[in-house]
Amino acid sequence: MISSAAIVNHLETDTLGSDRERELSAHRSHFPALGIENRTYFNYGGQGVLCGAALDSITKNFQHIETLGCFSNAAGDWMMSEYDATKAAIAQEFQVSSNTITLTENTTVGCNIALWAIDWQQGDRLLLSDCEHPGIIAGAVQIQKRFGIEIDYFPLTNTLNASAEGEDSSQVVDLLRQHLQPQTRMVMLSHICWNTGQVIPLKAMVKACHDRPYDQHIFVAVDAAQSVGVLPLNLDDIAADFYAFTTHKWWCAPLGLGALYIHPEIFDEIEPVFVGWRGLTGKAPIPQWKRDGAKFEVASSTYTLYEALRLAISHANSWGNQQQRYERICQLSQVLWQSLEALPHITCIRQVAPESGLVSFKIDQTVAKNAIAQKPNAAIARQLESEQQIFIRALPHPDCLRASVHYLTTIADINRLVSSLASLA
Ligand SMILES: Cc1ncc(COP(=O)(O)O)c(C=O)c1O
Repeated sequence: MISSAAIVNHLETDTLGSDRERELSAHRSHFPALGIENRTYFNYGGQGVLCGAALDSITKNFQHIETLGCFSNAAGDWMMSEYDATKAAIAQEFQVSSNTITLTENTTVGCNIALWAIDWQQGDRLLLSDCEHPGIIAGAVQIQKRFGIEIDYFPLTNTLNASAEGEDSSQVVDLLRQHLQPQTRMVMLSHICWNTGQVIPLKAMVKACHDRPYDQHIFVAVDAAQSVGVLPLNLDDIAADFYAFTTHKWWCAPLGLGALYIHPEIFDEIEPVFVGWRGLTGKAPIPQWKRDGAKFEVASSTYTLYEALRLAISHANSWGNQQQRYERICQLSQVLWQSLEALPHITCIRQVAPESGLVSFKIDQTVAKNAIAQKPNAAIARQLESEQQIFIRALPHPDCLRASVHYLTTIADINRLVSSLASLA
């Protein structure tokens, strides 16, 4: 294990170089929210910050439509060109073709499309990990009520300290395999667990499901809320059936724009539930579906937001590619993790160096004597925000606090959070 001082040194010299740190500072200056004095932002897993160009484009594009003429042919053409360019930009980030992308509003809509898309039969089984987001569990329970299926949970938390890449990654794959049953039709998993920050060995897990242990195809649907904008991704290579995400978290795009990747090979086997003109070919008799991601889209959307996403992606890429950004996230979250572990009253939820930007930790109230530390985690997070402008969040399961480290985070941000938490002793 390298020391925090060594990592900081590494960050400032070898990997990124002090010139890179200066570049980051210039890059950060394009984000109005990061320029607010004495504010330290660690909630990227909740929502990212918008760069000025993205913010400006939203207003500019609403005005543009008014100028072109609402519902004019010109405005319609402009909206369709925004739509095509945005799908292409998303697809390019994942090295897939544009027609695999469905535009949605958020991660949960994408997960719902996946959950409702297959022809569930009574007695089928849906397998989830025990780290899934409440909104996704709710979707699974609705499917259970509607179709009489069974939901199984596998204890991913038991492999909390396994890494996604190392030898111990096989523990996670074996655990999944043990929970597949002849009636399992779908497995739904988060690529990065929102509560623990664990990254799962997704490609090997998809393969374990697709190796047809019980003859029928097992669909793999991925909740990618915490992985898009963090991990370098090649979705063809991962080969999941569904990969659902939002753009407003780690990609720092506006709220209200998400997407879903659907593997082309399953396209003809699945059906949309909510439907509308966006999915239709325009030919009679109705419905005849487009044979691309549009089949799962419904109708009018806020096309005026789309350019902001493209600007956010290209702004991030102007600092470093996906691999470089991911490396910085891991290096910084290691610094935070080690610094927190060094505090006697704090224990990190994972006992291994982070592989994502999510660092979750608990304050030991028997050791921390400060009055704030005696409060529930939600109250601590609220107080850090209102009194010190330090933004972290509380989580219910496990009952803990979570800091999200982005490539935009600085060592100064980490030092400020660590000193504030140190003062709770
Ligand atoms: C793992 C996970 N899934 C789903 C969600 C919900 O995301 P959205 O609001 O984009 O649907 C979140 C949000 O925090 C999340 O972390």
